[in-house]
Amino acid sequence: MSNAYSKDLERWLPRLIAVWRASRGKGDGPEGRLTPQEVKEVGAGVKQLSLGLTRERQLAGARYMDDPRLLGAYLLFYWPVSYAQARQVLGELPNRPRHVLDLGSGPGPVAFAAMDAGASEVTAADRSKPALALALKLATEAGEALATREWDPLKKNAQLPDGQFDLITMGHVVNELYGATDEALKPRAALLEAVLTKVKKGGSLLVMEPALRETSRNLLKVRDLLVERGYGIRAPCMYRGACPALVKETDWCHAERAWPMPRVVEELARTAGFHKESLKMSYLVVAPKGEAWPEPPPGKVFRIVSESLEGKGRQRYIGCGPEGRVGLAMQERHRAEKNERFFHLQRGDVIEVTDLETKGDGFALGETAEVRMVAQAGRGVPPGPPKAPEAPAQAPAAPAAPVPPVKP
Ligand SMILES: C[S@@+](CC[C@H](N)C(=O)[O-])C[C@H]1O[C@@H](n2cnc3c(N)ncnc32)[C@H](O)[C@@H]1O
Repeated sequence: MSNAYSKDLERWLPRLIAVWRASRGKGDGPEGRLTPQEVKEVGAGVKQLSLGLTRERQLAGARYMDDPRLLGAYLLFYWPVSYAQARQVLGELPNRPRHVLDLGSGPGPVAFAAMDAGASEVTAADRSKPALALALKLATEAGEALATREWDPLKKNAQLPDGQFDLITMGHVVNELYGATDEALKPRAALLEAVLTKVKKGGSLLVMEPALRETSRNLLKVRDLLVERGYGIRAPCMYRGACPALVKETDWCHAERAWPMPRVVEELARTAGFHKESLKMSYLVVAPKGEAWPEPPPGKVFRIVSESLEGKGRQRYIGCGPEGRVGLAMQERHRAEKNERFFHLQRGDVIEVTDLETKGDGFALGETAEVRMVAQAGRGVPPGPPKAPEAPAQAPAAPAAPVPPVKP
């Protein structure tokens, strides 16, 4: 599978491996790939990280980046994953960020993704010194300039780095902050608000989280707190109310994309005993205070937020748009050239549909329905025309013109 960033990612693999080998002082190996012994060794670390960060979650918020074995496993397995996720989401931003701050950077996959997407000044900040040192070594290996900063928001009087940024990124870090219960939600939202004060007008805060039910729902809950406080969401939401995916405990919302999985990642996944085929992540792009939500494109517009739900003789998805989260279904017998797209949609695609009938908890597309692709998954949604300011309910009375005195 070829993506716009495949070549960039390919270039990183030999650098990751070289920096990892140098960090453990165990000399050379084949360029750009691991020996079977190395795969075995790193695979054990990947398994431990995976269990600790996704299954049992006892590593979330722990200092695993300070353990050289786990940092190495992160570098060779999760780094390419986070890099690719970030490149996908950066493709949805309304403009190219130049000045970027990556908070909770670890060894910098999101920072380098921003650089490869055109950022010219990037600062990586984390509490782990070994992770920041590794990010610096990668920058040297790539011939890039990267600034690093120690940062820990849990410390008293923690300061964010100076300056204002076009983009601030927080990759898979928010879920590690302030504990594992709902008590964490308010301080997380408050942290994001503080971070948003460092975003320039027109800029964005990008938060990415693991696509697990719990971490994803918690991100949506934090989204709702920010929306309540008046913040606009640039992506992926077009619905401006409380997130409808939170209504049912079993629902959540995440992105899923095909990606050019590097051979090293594939080998490590196999050794660690799990399948890692597609990229899955939950994300949110937030606008700074005072900036309105982007106007949605005109018409009946939906983002596909489910996989394909094929049923007996019909194609179905869950869509989420300016009017909320709904089922969208079409009978196979209504399939025609103008709606053929409906049968091949991917999670994340944004479509415009005509001819909808309300049916059950959603809409049925009739036989005259047309389906237009507004933006493919990973691309920005072109905003609709700005709304005309609403006319006041009752026009205020015009000030009375002075009446000239009538001459007798
Ligand atoms: C899962 S890693 C994510 C790394 C990278 N951003 C990515 O997307 O792959 C989480 C990062 O958050 C950092 N982190 C966790 N708690 C932190 C804290 N209290 N202060 C600063 N960084 C923290 C960890 O050191 C680690 O680098």
